[in-house]
Amino acid sequence: MRLSLVPTILAAATISIVIMLSNLIIKNNAFVDFAISSIENSTTELKVTLYKLKKDQQEASKYLQIKSQINKVQKKKKTVKKIENTNVGNFSFTMDLDILKQLHTLSFIKLDSVVKYNTTYKLLVLVTSHSRNYWRREWIRSLWGNKSVWKEKKWRIVFVTGQEPDDKVMKKLNREAKKFKDILCVNITEDFYLLSHKLIVGLTWSLHNLNFRFLLKVDDDVFVNINNAIRFVDNTTTSDGYYGSVIINNLVERIGKYAVSKKEHLSEIYSPYCSGGGYILTRKSVVDIIPYFDIKRPLKIDDAYIGETAMRAGISATQSNGFYMSNTWCEYKKDIIVSHPANDFKCLNHLTNESAKK
Ligand SMILES: *[C@@H]1O[C@H](CO)[C@@H](O)[C@H](O)[C@H]1NC(C)=O
Ligand SMILES: *[C@@H]1O[C@H](CO)[C@@H](O)[C@H](O)[C@H]1NC(C)=O
Ligand SMILES: *[C@@H]1O[C@H](CO)[C@@H](O)[C@H](O)[C@H]1NC(C)=O
Ligand SMILES: *[C@@H]1O[C@H](CO)[C@@H](O)[C@H](O)[C@H]1NC(C)=O
Ligand SMILES: *[C@@H]1O[C@H](CO)[C@@H](O)[C@H](O)[C@H]1NC(C)=O
Ligand SMILES: *[C@@H]1O[C@H](CO)[C@@H](O)[C@H](O)[C@H]1NC(C)=O
Ligand SMILES: *[C@@H]1O[C@H](CO)[C@@H](O)[C@H](O)[C@H]1NC(C)=O
Repeated sequence: MRLSLVPTILAAATISIVIMLSNLIIKNNAFVDFAISSIENSTTELKVTLYKLKKDQQEASKYLQIKSQINKVQKKKKTVKKIENTNVGNFSFTMDLDILKQLHTLSFIKLDSVVKYNTTYKLLVLVTSHSRNYWRREWIRSLWGNKSVWKEKKWRIVFVTGQEPDDKVMKKLNREAKKFKDILCVNITEDFYLLSHKLIVGLTWSLHNLNFRFLLKVDDDVFVNINNAIRFVDNTTTSDGYYGSVIINNLVERIGKYAVSKKEHLSEIYSPYCSGGGYILTRKSVVDIIPYFDIKRPLKIDDAYIGETAMRAGISATQSNGFYMSNTWCEYKKDIIVSHPANDFKCLNHLTNESAKK
């Protein structure tokens, strides 16, 4: 029997993943068993292939949903950036590290409820939200996230949530996702220190699932003036771009809540980065930054991590007006793009009303 198959490898010191091996001849089930036993860390695609070979449909179907994601990525990926020749056992094959990493990243998607239209959005608003915070999502949907509030329609909101051990929370989240079709739930525990992981999956998913020109990443406790955000986007012509409230020379803390060890980040300061409450990336910047992500060991301060990876991709954080990161008294200002904090209904309602009037 002929098939494309995939043995395990350790790629680039950090990621152990797997890749297509074309036209390998599989002679018997013993080999399949051998392959399965050695693919603990392999991609779901390989697992599907192998379990199907074994005629174990039940096991294979576990991975099928993710496989459809994989197929999408492979279709979209037209050019292969990094090709490496690799030897595993007696087999030699080529692999594309970028694709592998992205496939691995996409395998963290647990539930993708997001309805996809064949549209190019000017702006995709990616909101990272704790799975428990359904009320914040409700407020956003009814206030600044409501299409009928703004003139401009070519924008879209997607919430990225994680895993909670409490089954009730997850069931409620599932119902919410089914109803509103705007939630992407990833298989990553809700934890302050895992926000970077969540963001990596969210950004990678966005790139492969929606057409957008700009991406505005926000937390779920902010107000966004969509008209102003669109005006900003319409007025921005550069293809590389990373805009927000820029933090320069921020010292790396070695103790306390934000502690980062030297092993995680050797330098005493962070590269300039946009404060995480809200920042804008062009599509091309998302494309260019993704290869620098390392989902196994990201820097755990998520906004600083985007700064580090952007710097590596040669993209600099650009200070821009309208990103109010400590608007503590919830003041209306006419140029707000993002205002933080906005974590109660009154504040969100006030800012939405005032902005919509203009
Ligand atoms: C799978 O990955 C883990 C962690 O990277 C590693 O310790 C383990 O040896 C790997 N297993 C195989 C079969 O490659
Ligand atoms: C690799 O090739 C050698 C020599 O041809 C053979 O003895 C060995 O069984 C092969 N290993 C695998 C995993 O096929
Ligand atoms: C989620 O992650 C856990 C631990 O890594 C794993 O056991 C589980 O199978 C994953 N679930 C999905 C749906 O990927
Ligand atoms: C999506 O829209 C474009 C332009 O409007 C059109 O050319 C294309 O065929 C559409 N694709 C699908 C899958 O409907
Ligand atoms: C959005 O606003 C319209 C008009 O005010 C309203 O009918 C609709 O229920 C709102 N949507 C949500 C999700 O609150
Ligand atoms: C539009 O861009 C120009 C040049 O970058 C800038 O000077 C101007 O303030 C921008 N206008 C708005 C409304 O953002
Ligand atoms: C916001 O506008 C709505 C309807 O236009 C109104 O009912 C509400 O009282 C306003 N809220 C505030 C805080 O101004």
